[in-house]
This record gives sequence, C-alpha cells and structure tokens, in this order.
Amino acid sequence: MNRRDALTAHMEFFQELGAEGFSREPAWRFRGERPASPTEPTTPRTLEQVRGELGDCTRCKLHQGRTTLVFGVGRPDADLMFVGEAPGRDEDQQGEPFVGPAGQLLTKIIEAIGLTRDQVYIANVIKCRPPQNRNPELDEVQTCAPFLFQQLDVIRPRVVVALGAFAVRTLLRSEQSISRLRGQVFDYRGAKLVPTFHPAFLLRSPDRKRDVWQDMKKVRALLSS
Ligand code: URA
Repeated sequence: MNRRDALTAHMEFFQELGAEGFSREPAWRFRGERPASPTEPTTPRTLEQVRGELGDCTRCKLHQGRTTLVFGVGRPDADLMFVGEAPGRDEDQQGEPFVGPAGQLLTKIIEAIGLTRDQVYIANVIKCRPPQNRNPELDEVQTCAPFLFQQLDVIRPRVVVALGAFAVRTLLRSEQSISRLRGQVFDYRGAKLVPTFHPAFLLRSPDRKRDVWQDMKKVRALLSS
C-alpha cells in the first residue's frame, strides 16, 4: 500500500467511526488524552486568555445576528462542567449560557445533586445564537468547537455532562443517537463524559426526567469517587 492509499484507508476508517471531517485547528489535536505538558503552547492557561483569543469574533456567519457572544460561566476550576448546544434568545440578550426556561431547569438539575450554578462551569459548543435557534451548521461547529476544547483544557473538569445530541455528537465525534449514547460513561480528554438529554427536550418530554436523574446520580457518584 502506498502512502496515498494508506491515508485514504485511514480516513475511510475514521468516516466509518462517524468523523465528519478533519480540522487543522491545533485545539482539535488533543482528544482522549491531554497534552503531556501543561505548558503546551496551543493550550491557553486561563479562561481569560481563551476569551481574549475569541475577541469580538467574526470567524463565522453567526456573528452577524448575535447580540452578545456567550462564552461560559462558573468556576474556572470546576470539577463538573456542562456543555450545551448554542445560546438561545435569552442567553444572547444576557450573555450567559442557560438562563432561559431550559436554563432554569438545568439549575434545578444541578441543585438536585447538591451543587449550585456557581460551583460548576457551563458552556456551549457554539458561542453565538443561530438565527431562529436553528441547528448549528458544520462550518460553525468546526470554527467554534476548538474554543470549547480550550475551555475544557483550562478547566480540566473531572466530569463533563454533555447536554443533548448535538453536544454529545460534537464532543464524541459520534453519529449515534442520544438515546443510544446516554446511560454510558466515556473517557474524554482526561475526564469522564456523561451524555444526557437536553433540558429543552425535557421541557417537551417531562417523562424523560427520570432518565436524567439516573444520569445525574452517576455524575454524583463519579464526583465523589
Ligand atoms: N440551550 C443551549 O444548548 N444552550 C443555552 O445556553 C441555552 C439553551
């Protein structure tokens, strides 16, 4: 097999695993294992540096319709981090993730395991509100997700809760449905990743709250282990 065939076979293998493409952004390089050195030059050491790098971002088309870039909120050294999809209307107005109706439910979920919003970190894959809350598009994810990875690498949470199919698929690079992925715990960037349903979905399907409670009990056990 020559080099080109080997590369093609390698890429086909990743396609079968669910990868949708490759990015040259340095922040995509470290999945699973963290960089060996904490001084790895592509890993900013503070959230302020990541926020500074984002700046008044115009890297993708979503900047045109946003009111505020929604970076993230909470403890910079949190053991537990929640990752959602993208800001909605309330978040876009207030500049903070999960402050609308789904956010109020998330706050209750956090409190149900004996924590407060201040004790965890909350962020989204996408930092700017998509128009009419449409699903984020591939180019938007590819542009924005590396900043989430940098946030993860600075915070180094012990447990990451991925809220909903979009966050789970982006983090795990998987095409599987949330129903298949939830109930499992994954190793992710040195943390344990727990997929669960998005609070907005729970507002429409309250009968699934029981599943989320099971997931959150798992989170509580992981945090105290
Ligand atoms: N839904 C999300 O995924 N994130 C938010 O910040 C708000 C709603």
